[in-house]
Amino acid sequence: MSLNFETLRKNILKYVKEHVNPGRYQHTLRVEETAIRLANQYGADVESVRLAAVLHDACKDFESKKMTKFAKNFLKREGIEIDLSNAGTAILHGLAAADLGYRIYGIKDKDILYAVAFHTTGWYKMSLIGKIIFIADYIEPERNFNKVKKARKLANKDLDRATVFKMKNSIRHLAKDENYIYIESVKIYNHWISK
Ligand SMILES: [Fe+2]
Ligand SMILES: [Fe+2]
Repeated sequence: MSLNFETLRKNILKYVKEHVNPGRYQHTLRVEETAIRLANQYGADVESVRLAAVLHDACKDFESKKMTKFAKNFLKREGIEIDLSNAGTAILHGLAAADLGYRIYGIKDKDILYAVAFHTTGWYKMSLIGKIIFIADYIEPERNFNKVKKARKLANKDLDRATVFKMKNSIRHLAKDENYIYIESVKIYNHWISK
């Protein structure tokens, strides 16, 4: 990191505290803790992982117009063409936070930006940092869904399997309750199981 890590982290956390609800702020800190543990276990750059973690939900409480604008900035800059017409805030807030990180905090590291951008859906090509944020968000200590024990076990053994597990269960969960499934999530899942 070229910029001073501690200062950057502190600035981002201050922003997060001012822009998300208190529960989400605490969630952010827990994701960071979990991500540090995984980074140490799998040999990822801890500072990069921490910056991605503190940034990942920074835009989650944005009003939807602002969130969409930020999300589109990121996609345009990266030359990524995906259909956002049915993408809800669950999809958009990660992309938006990646834009925030780039424009406001000067984060240029693609591994960090992509980890933040795709922390809900995952992505076709995921770096170690990307997988760690994807999983840390899923298994942080206060997460309490049916298969969280299995997810934590997998995370300790095999990050790729844990990644597919989250993709699979997220889609299954949405389908079970007859909720809309964002098409890109299905494509990404298909890509991963065909590897
Ligand atoms: Fe999120
Ligand atoms: Fe999160």
